[in-house]
Amino acid sequence: MDTILVRGNGPLNGEIPIAGAKNACLTLMPATLLTDQPLTLTNAPRLSDIRTMTALLGSLGAEVASLQDGQVLALSSHDLTSHTADYDIVRKMRASILVLGPMLARDGHAIVSLPGGCAIGARPVDLHLRALQAMGADLDLREGYVHAKAPAGGLRGAVIEFPIVSVGATENALMAATLARGTTVLKNAAREPEIVDLAHCLRRMGARIDGEGTSTITIEGVDRLGGATHPVVTDRIELGTYMLAPAICGGTVTCLGGRIDLVHAFSEKLDEAGISVTEDARGLTVSRKNGRIRAVDVVTEPFPGFPTDLQAQMMALMCTAEGVSDLEETIFENRFMHAPELARMGARIDVHGGHARVSGVDRLKGAPVMATDLRASVSLILAGLAAEGETVVSRVYHLDRGYEKVVRKLRGVGADIERIKEAPTHD
Ligand code: UD1
Repeated sequence: MDTILVRGNGPLNGEIPIAGAKNACLTLMPATLLTDQPLTLTNAPRLSDIRTMTALLGSLGAEVASLQDGQVLALSSHDLTSHTADYDIVRKMRASILVLGPMLARDGHAIVSLPGGCAIGARPVDLHLRALQAMGADLDLREGYVHAKAPAGGLRGAVIEFPIVSVGATENALMAATLARGTTVLKNAAREPEIVDLAHCLRRMGARIDGEGTSTITIEGVDRLGGATHPVVTDRIELGTYMLAPAICGGTVTCLGGRIDLVHAFSEKLDEAGISVTEDARGLTVSRKNGRIRAVDVVTEPFPGFPTDLQAQMMALMCTAEGVSDLEETIFENRFMHAPELARMGARIDVHGGHARVSGVDRLKGAPVMATDLRASVSLILAGLAAEGETVVSRVYHLDRGYEKVVRKLRGVGADIERIKEAPTHD
């Protein structure tokens, strides 16, 4: 397996282009299943998760052409040859469950493997299933698969109130509702920018949607959807991650394509910690104000709150802040697996359930560390950039799921980082 070698070498300066959002693209791609017309996504990120979704859609009979070095995805689901999302693909990526709503809405039946647990907690899909049931779907769980059937005449509109905010369940229900008979109202819906982006794309395809970006989304079902071309929204998590690079190392970095409205709660915390963020037409420019970073407390929440997907990276910043910082994770259990790895680099972190207390130290020291999930992996790289000596991050396949060209982007602003390819093995 490849590893990433990072050496702390002082301030970073320059520009980092921010890609299209992985999580938006992973929900926009299954929207192809709602129509027999072509769907073209521009500004797509080049990531292994996108290749996994490409394989899943391909296994259903959809065509996905990757153009312009992967930045344009041309999707077409003229005829589906299968309605079964197989365990072998679904187990690799939870977002696979997002094919369920669209297939059910368009063709009235679908069989999708349950994703199972994953490294950051149990993460059930009950809310996805309950929303589809409320629209009349008959669901049967057999041998690890959901067998779903729409009533004769198709799914019907319903009022669905989610007991907790779920990004994926909102997306599945939103897509399914576009082709349901009558009106669907989603209450306590997720408000993430990726939901707004999905609604914009579906509207371009002919869907009638109102209220995206608020907690009540209303959808008037239509008979059919058409094709569209849609640019994927900027990745706010990649953006936040690279905003932390100059915050941790010093220097000034402009994140091209960044927008403050995508990372408002996060930017406010950076400001409190002593980091300046300014916005102009090109993106967001980040630098330290004066002196050492101050410790700040963080509670993760659904959008517009502080994103759980930036918690690990923020912890890396807090490791060398002045004072004590309390981080509370409210979205996922077991999402502090990066803490013991950061501790190997000299960080002082106490974890109790969903709380982590970080007592800032003057300097981290490089160490061999292991990536445990996608966001944890990049937090170790950020920590390594500011540490004394060498940090070697293993299990970087986690990183490849969600960060394109991370080595190239960080080298572009002066970081000392390289990917060490695994030596070929000989029998
Ligand atoms: C999405 C993002 C992920 C991000 C998360 C929260 C994608 C591909 N992934 O994941 O990066 O960390 O939002 O912002 O977009 N839950 C249930 N039952 C369900 C569904 C969810 O109990 O049926 C719970 C989850 O366990 C979790 C909470 O709801 O505690 C929020 O999860 P959710 O918003 O659904 O996350 P994902 O859509 O899986």
